[in-house]
Amino acid sequence: MPGPAVPADLPTLAELEARLAAVPGLDGPALEAETIAVLGRKSGALTAIMKRLPSLPVEERREFGASVNLLKAKFEEAFEARRTALGAGRETQDAQTDLTMPGRHRWVGGIHPTRRVIQDIVDIFRGLGFAVATGPEVEDEWYNFLALNFPPDHPAMDLHDTLYLADTGREAQDAGRDGLDETRPASRASRLLLRTHTSPVQLRTMLAGPPPYRVICPGICYRNDTFDASHLPAFTQMEGLAVDEGIGLVDLKATLSHFARQLLGADTVARFRPSYFPFTEPSAEMDVRCGVCRGAGCPVCKHTGWIEIMGCGMVHPNVLENAGVDSEKYTGWAFGMGPDRIALARYGIPDIRMLREGDVRVLGQFTGAA
Ligand code: PHE
Repeated sequence: MPGPAVPADLPTLAELEARLAAVPGLDGPALEAETIAVLGRKSGALTAIMKRLPSLPVEERREFGASVNLLKAKFEEAFEARRTALGAGRETQDAQTDLTMPGRHRWVGGIHPTRRVIQDIVDIFRGLGFAVATGPEVEDEWYNFLALNFPPDHPAMDLHDTLYLADTGREAQDAGRDGLDETRPASRASRLLLRTHTSPVQLRTMLAGPPPYRVICPGICYRNDTFDASHLPAFTQMEGLAVDEGIGLVDLKATLSHFARQLLGADTVARFRPSYFPFTEPSAEMDVRCGVCRGAGCPVCKHTGWIEIMGCGMVHPNVLENAGVDSEKYTGWAFGMGPDRIALARYGIPDIRMLREGDVRVLGQFTGAA
């Protein structure tokens, strides 16, 4: 084949022969593209080669022109054959496709119900000017109990209630302590434990800088509890702390009632029952009217019509003083709530273990849910 007759910017006939051989392997879009690239009337390779025929020496024209025409015919045939083959394949497939069969299931991820509750709570408090603060899950007794005004013999510190860690490495840890810890009495640098609540973050926040404070503290807590329908040995908690000049109980009630309406709906009714925590005085439990039965009584609210959602109260002056805050000048309130429990109430989940078992039949109901 007279190769040199083809100008350098166009493929040689030998190259086109190779492309011809590849036509039976082309799929639909590639087949269309190749048809245009070879036979296209404007810029197809064979069309362009033919256009240059007049510039060839007369004696070459005939033979070269015949080869090009032959090749063109072969391409047309090959494209046609391939098109038919693809079309036929589609028809066979169509005949086999059962359109009544259910589609193939695609996995769609979702946000875990507890995480969803945490995000909503954080959003509401962010809107009220609170910042997010976090603290370590391994604490010592001072942060977890003593500085929070627990008396040293308080039953919450018992082995039955709290998960202590072996004391290995304790001295090395003490040696590396920061300046804050030098302000503590020697007696309080004691056992390490998995924090039983997020309240130590109150202290860490106050020790980190001067008032005012407005923080919300999500995190995981641990207690020596069995894994049963209403207990998790590792559970989530959400602490809140607001300390400033002139803060009173009315701020606590107003803020937390507003919060409950935001989280659970505008018609949510909240009530406060007197309670006791060593680190707040006065202390209260906040209940909301059961959203499932609207107070009539149902299994979700254990037939009381109310669901307890948090503990709260005015920060005890001893706690402020332990954190170096002047309790004559500053007052504040705090709360702690369990997002796992709130998720049970919000979504009507009957057993808290369902939140941890990772059963897709349960979790799958929350994919894409608002
Ligand atoms: N820390 C308490 C608990 O775990 C909850 C709480 C926090 C109560 C802050 C009052 C104020 O039960």
